[in-house]
Amino acid sequence: MTIDLAALPHDFLWGTATSAYQIEGAVAEDGRSPSIWDTFAHTPGKTAGGDHGDIACDHYHRWRDDIGIMRELGVNAYRLSVAWPRVVPGGDGPVNPKGLAFYDELVDALLAAGITPSVTLYHWDLPQVLQDRGGWPERDTAEHFAAYASAVAERLGDRVGHWATLNEPLCSAWIGHLEGLMAPGLTDLTAAVRASYHLLLGHGLATQAIRAAAPDAEIGIVNNLSTVHAASDRPEDLAAARRVDGHTNRWWLDPVHGRGFPADMRELYGVELPEKPGDLETIAQPLDWLGLNYYFPVTVTDDPEGPAPYARSVRKPDVPRTGMDWEVDASGIEALLMRLTDEYGARRLYVTENGSAYPDVVRPDGTVHDPERQAYLTSHLAACASAARRGAPLAGYFAWSLLDNFEWAYGYEKRFGLVHVDYETQTRTIKGTGRHYADIVRRHREGVRKAA
Ligand code: IFM
Repeated sequence: MTIDLAALPHDFLWGTATSAYQIEGAVAEDGRSPSIWDTFAHTPGKTAGGDHGDIACDHYHRWRDDIGIMRELGVNAYRLSVAWPRVVPGGDGPVNPKGLAFYDELVDALLAAGITPSVTLYHWDLPQVLQDRGGWPERDTAEHFAAYASAVAERLGDRVGHWATLNEPLCSAWIGHLEGLMAPGLTDLTAAVRASYHLLLGHGLATQAIRAAAPDAEIGIVNNLSTVHAASDRPEDLAAARRVDGHTNRWWLDPVHGRGFPADMRELYGVELPEKPGDLETIAQPLDWLGLNYYFPVTVTDDPEGPAPYARSVRKPDVPRTGMDWEVDASGIEALLMRLTDEYGARRLYVTENGSAYPDVVRPDGTVHDPERQAYLTSHLAACASAARRGAPLAGYFAWSLLDNFEWAYGYEKRFGLVHVDYETQTRTIKGTGRHYADIVRRHREGVRKAA
């Protein structure tokens, strides 16, 4: 399969992505306070094997080596997240200078290596002290988030141009407050809907705060979206697909585009939104870009007895699947890029995450042979290039992930990295797909040079 590299802009960002709790470790160092993920992961039965992020990839101490690996891959961008509990350990109030200093040094080193940093402010690690005061279901949390965002932007905004407020608010709200499978582990529809509202309000308030601190900042939000298919042509299944689309996609896209929260979903949840005058305008701040995290499509059937949105996934037979048991369907990434372009009028798009987990091993010759991941990367990049050719304003792609890391409730068993991590020794080994990605980046760059 060939990737139409010529369809991608000359200044395309070729990146990798990570998040703080998944790689940093050093959870009790330099004044960091516990986050809801420390609490959740240390609660028996919540993660596979009782795994937690106490050490993770020890990136807090090994970040210089990790930048060295990025250089070896030849990438020109890196999406990282800042840990709120490092920067504002009390959740609100004083800033911890050592917490900010870590990211300050990291950003300088990235820039010195010719790598553009893209900073996400919230990748699920709410300070536990704020959870103890009610967490995202409470309005104060959105306001504290904006204050924290302002502190980070004031410090890094002279060097960081790319900012994302939230990563995948769907997971924080629905998986964390409705399904109970992620921190804080609640199963409460009212809490989930309130959390979703305050996450998006926090996004809007943080966008304003970043702009005030760093007027040239380019700001976006990162959503994990899925293509949704009905299991059959039965009207019940078609309606179920519409509901899942509302739950997964429209609930997160419509409000930030000034369309308010979808009426059909408001009715379905039946939860009063904690709205105050002006909130919808705050949530719909103009954005410079949208981030798409894409992994898999879903096929659904009606399930009136199940929890909201009263639909359940159907397992399609005979389709390729990753080690997460997620269906592989590259056409989904193209469809979503086109939807964001055509339906939501996106001005600029990034694929902020895309990748696959497989059970890798380091072979006796020291290499990691991962042909399935390589095929996944190739097919999805080909689909991205096809979307760009069709007019999607795609400006970058960030492979998930730079490193194998703490895959939340799945612990360390699932490996998404372009780089293998031996958690006993912290040895990093670039996988076959990492080399393949480096080659694609190099070929794009050569094409650009020849065209110049
Ligand atoms: O590891 C996660 C990441 O934190 C958010 N997006 C999906 C990835 C794979 O599950």
